[in-house]
Formats: sequence, C-alpha cells, structure tokens
Amino acid sequence: MVDKIEVGRALSRAMALELLTRIRKGAGDRGEPPVLAVVRSSGDAAASYAASREKAAREAGIRIVSRGLPEGGGAAAAGRFLRELSADPGIGAVLIETPLDAGIEETALRSALDPAKDAEGLSPANYGRLFSARRWREVEEGAFPVPPTALSIAALARACGVELKGLSALVVGRSNSVGKPAAHLLSLLDATVTLAHSKTRDLPLLCSRAELLVACVGKPECIKAAWVKKGAVVIDAGVHAAGGRLVGDVEASAADRAAFMTPVPGGVGPLTTAHLLNNVLMLARGRGGAFA
Ligand SMILES: NC(=O)c1ccc[n+]([C@@H]2O[C@H](COP(=O)([O-])OP(=O)(O)OC[C@H]3O[C@@H](n4cnc5c(N)ncnc54)[C@H](OP(=O)(O)O)[C@@H]3O)[C@@H](O)[C@H]2O)c1
Repeated sequence: MVDKIEVGRALSRAMALELLTRIRKGAGDRGEPPVLAVVRSSGDAAASYAASREKAAREAGIRIVSRGLPEGGGAAAAGRFLRELSADPGIGAVLIETPLDAGIEETALRSALDPAKDAEGLSPANYGRLFSARRWREVEEGAFPVPPTALSIAALARACGVELKGLSALVVGRSNSVGKPAAHLLSLLDATVTLAHSKTRDLPLLCSRAELLVACVGKPECIKAAWVKKGAVVIDAGVHAAGGRLVGDVEASAADRAAFMTPVPGGVGPLTTAHLLNNVLMLARGRGGAFA
C-alpha cells in the first residue's frame, strides 16, 4: 500500500522546491539579495520553524536579519520601531514574530508596518485586500502578499487531487494568521467551509462529516484519528515538540483513515516557508502577489 504520509511529504517537498527554485532565480536576477527583517518578541515558540526558515532563505538567496523590539518601551516605542524599519531602504520586508510582549497589541503594531514591506500579508491593508477577493484568481493574480500558512494549506488542498468544488471542508482554528484566511481561501476555491473554534459544540461530529479537514488549533494531537471521516483529505498545520519529536494537531494514525494527509514535520511547514520567501521576493521587486 502507498504510504499516504509519504505522498503528502513528497507533494509538499515538490511544491516548495519549485517555488524556492523560482525565488532563487528571481533573487539572483536582482543582484542584491532581498532582506527580510524578523522582528523578534520575547517568546521562542517557533524555534524549529525559525531554523528551517533561515536555511531555506539562505538557499533561496534571501538574507534574514534579526531585530528585537525595544525592551520595556511599550506599544508606542514598538510602533515607532516598526515605522523606522518600514522606512529603512536596506530592509525589503518585515516579519513580526508572535507572541508579543504584554501591552503590545498585534493589530496596532501591524498597522505601523508599511503594507509594501509586509511579508505575512497581515497588515490591515493587505488583509483587507485578501478578504475583498471574491474569486481565487484575484488572489493568484493580486498584487498583495497573502498569509503564507493559509496559502500553503489552500495550495496543498488544491494539489492533492480532489475536486474542491462543493466539498465539505472544516477548518478548526480561527486565528487571523492561519484559520480565518485558510477558510476564506478554501471558500474562494468553492469548498463549502465550516470554521470551528474553541466554543464549537461537538467537534468530533463535525470532523466525522468533513471531506476536507484542516487543523490549525495549536494543541498537540487534539483531533483524534477516530473522528476523521474515511477517505477524507487531512491538512495539519499544527507543529509541537512532544517527547523529543514533532507532532501535529491531528493524531498521526488518522492517515490510516484519510485518503491524503500532510505529515508533521514536512507538510505545511516547508511550503509555508517557501510562500513567505516568495512574498519577500515579490515585495523586493516592488509588487506583491502570491504567484507573481
Ligand atoms: N506549519 C506552519 O508553517 C505553521 C505556521 C503558523 C502556525 N502553525 C501552527 O498552526 C497551529 C495554529 O496556529 P495559530 O497561530 O493559528 O494558533 P492560535 O492563534 O492559538 O489559534 C488557535 C485556534 O484554535 C482554536 N482552538 C483552540 N482550542 C480548540 C479546541 N479545543 N477546539 C476547537 N478549536 C480550538 C482557537 O479558538 P478561539 O478563537 O475560540 O480561541 C483559535 O481560533 C499551531 O499548532 C501552530 O504551531 C504552523
């Protein structure tokens, strides 16, 4: 029997590689490498992701520099810092790591970032453009960056070989950066989307009905294999260190029931990195666009 997890891994790898190869060429054509500033907050939850991001950026010809938010300066100093970074001609794009220190409100901070330097597509202007889109084509051809994890989820759903039109999709998690935009993108791809969250009643029942299940919950293996509909497509964005290994939001044994399932690690993560770097290149070229 074909190992479904290996199929998911190979698909993600191939899609990420194709994108990274294009980025490397695009970055090489520019002469100067595009520079991504990563604004670090106090939390270090994404350490494994940061290491793989830096490796991929190096290979793709993009330079990453680290910038710490001013310590103890509060929201006003953080906003000033973001405006200064936005105005720095040596910085092509900015990524803001979360969680932020207490007292710094994320949307306010993202508002201080120039949308033309917004690597994550989460500044209010770019986010508004995304949610104004009524067709997938507008995202594909649009001149704005799209949140990379959500875009990777949609791209994997699109590439895994199922017809998305009319498909019953469940997205578990409604964060601004992942769940909400993923649900919107899947709806642009004509799936019929339910968006679940921590107040949702009877999640197991909803999962058991979902032909496409997207997990972006942030809790290790909280979606049980037994809840997954037989033959479903499962896309797991979760990544957690547990007992010396990485696990997702869905129990790995769900692959036995699924028709297709992304692995953790090696599924959504590498493609997210590639889409992030693609945003950086597009911004450096002076135009956005998920696939430009
Ligand atoms: N692979 C990648 O590249 C990548 C990138 C980014 C994030 N991630 C991963 O994706 C996952 C989600 O990240 P995030 O930033 O979106 O997390 P987040 O901001 O913490 O959001 C989690 C969401 O899950 C919902 N939720 C929490 N417990 C739930 C439950 N028991 N049942 C149903 N819904 C529940 C929350 O509901 P409420 O809104 O009601 O609180 C919230 O909407 C994490 O595992 C993270 O590590 C992966």
